Amino acid sequence: MNQTRKYDLYSASFRQQTHQTFAQMRADDPVFQQPGLDGQTPIWFVTGYAEVEQVLLDERHFRRDPASISPELAQKYGGTTDLQLMLNSHMLNRDGADHRRLRSLVGQAFTPKMVQSMRPRIEQIAHDLLDKAAAQGRMELVADYAFPLPITVIAELLGIPLDNQENFRLWSNAFVQPAFTPEAQQEMMLKLQAFGAYMQQLVVERRQQPGDDLLSALIHVQEAGDRLSEMELFSMLALLIVAGHETTVSLIGNATLALLQNPEARNALQADPDLIPNALEELLRYDSPVERTLTRFVAADTELGGRKLQKGDLLIAVLGSANRDESRFTEADRLDIFRRPNPHLAFGKGSHYCLGAPLARLEGEIALRTLFQRFPDLRLGIAVEELTWRNTPLFRALTHLPLTWGMRDE
Ligand code: HEM
Repeated sequence: MNQTRKYDLYSASFRQQTHQTFAQMRADDPVFQQPGLDGQTPIWFVTGYAEVEQVLLDERHFRRDPASISPELAQKYGGTTDLQLMLNSHMLNRDGADHRRLRSLVGQAFTPKMVQSMRPRIEQIAHDLLDKAAAQGRMELVADYAFPLPITVIAELLGIPLDNQENFRLWSNAFVQPAFTPEAQQEMMLKLQAFGAYMQQLVVERRQQPGDDLLSALIHVQEAGDRLSEMELFSMLALLIVAGHETTVSLIGNATLALLQNPEARNALQADPDLIPNALEELLRYDSPVERTLTRFVAADTELGGRKLQKGDLLIAVLGSANRDESRFTEADRLDIFRRPNPHLAFGKGSHYCLGAPLARLEGEIALRTLFQRFPDLRLGIAVEELTWRNTPLFRALTHLPLTWGMRDE
C-alpha cells in the first residue's frame, strides 16, 4: 500500500516547479523523511546546503555500501545476481579503502593536464556536430549535440567503437531510469543484459588486441594481479560510460537553456568568451545536472539538521537544492555568471567528488563556446511552456531542446 508524501518529488508537475518545491523543503524541512519512488521505503531527503555538505563529508556515518553496515542491509539493498555484480561493483558503490583502491586505478586518466590534452579533439567533435546541424538548418540540441559530444569523447578515451551509439543511449537509460511495472522491469533487464554482453565481447576483443586506451590499461591491471577483479573491471567500464556522458548531456542542455533565458549573461559571454569557465560554474550551480546523489545508508545512529537518524536509514542528498540555498548563496535564484567564490556542490564533495569533473568542465566550456560562436543568434525553437524534463529523479535534464537561428519566419 503506497503511503502519501508531503512533497511531490517525482511527477511531471514537480518538474515544472522543482526549485519552488526545494525552497519550501529548505524552509520547513531541510532534513525530511518520506516514502521514496516506490511509495513505501522511507528515505531522508536532505535539502539544506550545510546538511548536504555534512552528509557528503562524513563517510563514517553516511555510506554507499550497505554491506559495510550489516548483513541484513546488504541482503535488502545489495545485489547478488551475476548481472548486478557485473554492473554495480564500482567505486561509487564502495567506501573507505576499497573505494580508494578502485578510484586510484583510473585517477591518472582524469588529471586536469591529461584532460587538457584532449581539447583539440573535443573542439573538432563539437564543430563536426555543428556542421551537420548547420547543413540541416535546425537542431534538436539534446540529440544532435549534447548527447553525441560526450559519448564520443568517453568512447574515444576508453577506446571503444561508436558504431552503436544509439544502443549506448538505451542501455545507459536503463541504468539510470527506475522501472516499477513488471513490463518495464523486464524491458530494463533485457537492456542491461545486452549492455553486459556487449562489455564482455569488448573485453575479449581488447584482450586480444590491446591499444593505447583506458580500457586496455584497465585490462592490463586486472590481468597483472589482485588490484581489480573481473567484475570490478566490467563495473568500472559501465560506470565510466554512464557517468561519463549522462551528466554532461544534462549540463549542455541546462546551460544552453539558462543562457537563452538570460540574455544579459548570454551577451556578456558572446562578447567575451573567456568568461565561460567562470560562467560554467554558475550554470552548474543554477540548474545542477545531478539533482540528487545516489542513496546513502546511515551507518550508526546520528543527528542531522536537528533530526535523529537511525542506523540503517536511507538518505538522499539533494544537490540541486543545496545549490540554491539562500543561506549559502546570495540571490541564489539569480544566474550570476560573475559569481565568485562559487562553492557549489554540483560535482558532489568529499571522497566521491566527481572523478570526471575536469573533463566535464572542458566539455561544457567547449560545447558552449562553439555553439554560441557558430550560431550567434541562436534561439529557442519552441515555447518555454512546451519544454519537458526527463522523468528520472537523479538528474535534472531536458528531454528535447529544439533551437533555431538565422532569418525569422514572421
Ligand atoms: C556535468 C557533468 C558531471 C556532473 C554534474 C557530475 C556529477 C557527479 C557527482 C555529483 C558525483 C558524486 C555522486 C555521489 O556522491 O553520489 C559524481 C561522481 C562520479 N563521476 Fe561525475 N559528473 C559529471 C561528469 C562526469 C564525467 C564526464 C565522468 C567520467 C568521465 C564522471 C565520472 C564520475 C565517477 C567515476 C564518479 C564516482 C567517483 C567516486 O565514487 O569516487 N563524471 N559525478
